[in-house]
Amino acid sequence: MRPKVFLTRRLPAKALDRLGEVCDYEIGCDRGQLSRAALLAGVRQADGLICLLTDQIDSEVIAAAEKLRVIANVAVGYNNIDVEAAQRRQIFVTNTPDVLTEATADLTMALILAVTRRLVEADAYVRAGKFTAWDFELFLGTELTGKTLGIIGYGRIGHAVGRRAASFGLSVLYCGRDEIAFRDEPVRTTGRLGQRSRETLPAPISASALQNGLTPRRSSFRELLAQSDIITLHVPLAAATRHLIDREALARMKPTAYLINTSRGPVVDEAALVAALKAGQLAGAGLDVYEYEPQVSPELLTMKQVVLLPHIGSATHETRTAMALLAVENAIDALSGRTPRNVI
Ligand code: GLV
Repeated sequence: MRPKVFLTRRLPAKALDRLGEVCDYEIGCDRGQLSRAALLAGVRQADGLICLLTDQIDSEVIAAAEKLRVIANVAVGYNNIDVEAAQRRQIFVTNTPDVLTEATADLTMALILAVTRRLVEADAYVRAGKFTAWDFELFLGTELTGKTLGIIGYGRIGHAVGRRAASFGLSVLYCGRDEIAFRDEPVRTTGRLGQRSRETLPAPISASALQNGLTPRRSSFRELLAQSDIITLHVPLAAATRHLIDREALARMKPTAYLINTSRGPVVDEAALVAALKAGQLAGAGLDVYEYEPQVSPELLTMKQVVLLPHIGSATHETRTAMALLAVENAIDALSGRTPRNVI
């Protein structure tokens, strides 16, 4: 008997062809968002589920899927899945890391350039027929060379952004899991075992940064907030990172700084961000994700200093096909009795 896989949405033909070599499959919808009722019905007889970051795979869905052995998310983030409920049923949960790293880092740089050089405003100006004469002070922006980029979350994507930043002449400060976990504590300069000082942690050095004479430097969360000219977020959404950028964090940023978010919306307290932008507490923001996605705070829509994208971090032909193929391989692994390559 071939295993049955339910896909919440149609994926590229290459991925479906591969899935069809091993499994029978059913597709929930061709585009857009599958309804809750269709999701619950679709998983009922499925051995495997291939889903998107917009599908809420909670305990109710998992309970409805009596035969389910694998939930393969076509995303690196998996905050849409109740991983504990899946683990209680010994269902594998998988994601698609690596294949989207470069595309997401590219989009992060695109947002950085768009906000600092006011690309969207300038484009609208030309389209509106307002470009009637060159002007010395038209759309002055902020130069990247010599500025400091703060990278919060220094995993695969954070590193890839750091590599790109070096070639723009940006110095990089970064903080990772430890600094975030200790964010509310005063900075320690010495530490007992198990309470490591953030200052004593070694800083990995990338070859390209060295070539450019710019060495990424590990910093405390608070120092990064205070020193950076641009702050970019690359953490997964979890209890420790929800509202990581809140009113207090925003108040610590330079009034000339920009905030970039290509991770998950709820990492930023969006109401606090709106208030900070209105008060001129920071210069602008580049957002690909939103706290209540796909809803966007209406005030953001009116702000010229903000560039807003519809969650397209990994949206290239190459990457989306690679993500779909990887999710399919994860599902096939699990349904063939192997541990999937990207098991969570
Ligand atoms: C995109 O947001 C992803 O998590 O893959």
